[in-house]
Amino acid sequence: MTNQHISNRDMNVLWHPCTQMKDHESFPIIPIARGDGVYLEDFEKNRYIDGISSWWVNLFGHANAYINGKVKEQLDTLEHVILAGFTHEGIVRLSERLVALAPEGLTRCFYADNGSSAVEVALKMSYHAHRNKGDNRALFVSLSNSYHGETLGALSIGDVALYKETYEPLLIRSIQTPSPINQSLEAAKAAIIHFELLLRERSDEIAALIVEPLVQGAGGMVMYHPHFLTEAKRLCEEYAIHFIADEIMVGFGRTGTMFACEQADITPDFLILSKGLTGGYLPLSVVMTTESIYGEFYCDYDPHRSFLHSHSYTGNALACAAANATLDLFEKNKVIEANQKLSRAINEGLKRFESRKEVKETRQCGMIGVIELQGFNASQRIGVKIHRHCLSLGVLIRPLGSVIYVMPPYVITPEELGLIFDAIESALNELTL
Ligand SMILES: Cc1ncc(COP(=O)(O)O)c(C=O)c1O
Repeated sequence: MTNQHISNRDMNVLWHPCTQMKDHESFPIIPIARGDGVYLEDFEKNRYIDGISSWWVNLFGHANAYINGKVKEQLDTLEHVILAGFTHEGIVRLSERLVALAPEGLTRCFYADNGSSAVEVALKMSYHAHRNKGDNRALFVSLSNSYHGETLGALSIGDVALYKETYEPLLIRSIQTPSPINQSLEAAKAAIIHFELLLRERSDEIAALIVEPLVQGAGGMVMYHPHFLTEAKRLCEEYAIHFIADEIMVGFGRTGTMFACEQADITPDFLILSKGLTGGYLPLSVVMTTESIYGEFYCDYDPHRSFLHSHSYTGNALACAAANATLDLFEKNKVIEANQKLSRAINEGLKRFESRKEVKETRQCGMIGVIELQGFNASQRIGVKIHRHCLSLGVLIRPLGSVIYVMPPYVITPEELGLIFDAIESALNELTL
């Protein structure tokens, strides 16, 4: 079977996510035959280093032998069971482990099956918890430039015009407060002043603040100081609004700690996890919350007070097996410590780009490295050109406009990271002359 054979069939029947399908008339889609660690291999044996962890999900490589084994074991026992009225050992064990790992006080796990759905859960729970206290608050605050997913609720509280604008008439109410403009303490302090002013004026309408802790992903890998989170959480407590930490992208070690909130020493009211939760294997997400929020819903049967939200695949047993295997690997291999070496290699790689004229800045947070370009307009589609150039050199990266970023699986070697930076350098040499 050739690449072309599969891609021709694909073009007849598929509609790909976040894609203008017509682009594939001139640039064929790449069919992947197998995965192997940090490599993806197509049907003609071309190999690509997965520099973006397949949309930020993969932690321990593709076709990881240990995770494979655990999923296969589970497959012979139980593939899935309805999670209302029933449970299974894998999800109980996973929940116990998440409670032990997460910031102290997050004692309850509510599952869904993808990031956006979990965001919907957190928004509904927050609104409903206030409502159960007799408080009607239907407004959410998020940071400017934030991204929380594509379903209507999640889209409503995001702030990336590219994804949101078209659907504006369909959305629920949200307002934005300025996000810190860079990683400095001063920028965090300046953003807090704005947030406090907003709370002084409108806190009694607001259910929650939702943030992407430390790194705003789809908004262009914008990074900020943990001080913002510490202070924002303090203000949320002062004004009695919930703090929702969307760690869908940054959870599980991406920022250098298991959870980004640890760097701000805070316990959010809701912690949302997905992506790396299953090591990038299967769709699963969880909203962790406190005993106090849980208590707002705990009562003799009352349909208005109960949280009657569900998804068919909630708590899927195969996904839980992948998640438990992923946590085993964190325990066995001291991953957070080991990643410090890789993080230093990313830092070294970024240095090559600092003084290039087309580079606005480089920045880094743990296992995420960014090269932001300047001087290009959207119609030049520089990111797409860099993506294609790097693919021709066996490297998968997928810039966000003119923001090039590297977010590899944790099993990459410093040498393989070097190959990614070589490809980016080659792309810039070729495309920015
Ligand atoms: C911070 C954040 N929240 C939510 C989502 C949505 O998750 P999903 O794509 O699984 O719906 C994403 C996806 O990239 C994300 O980065």
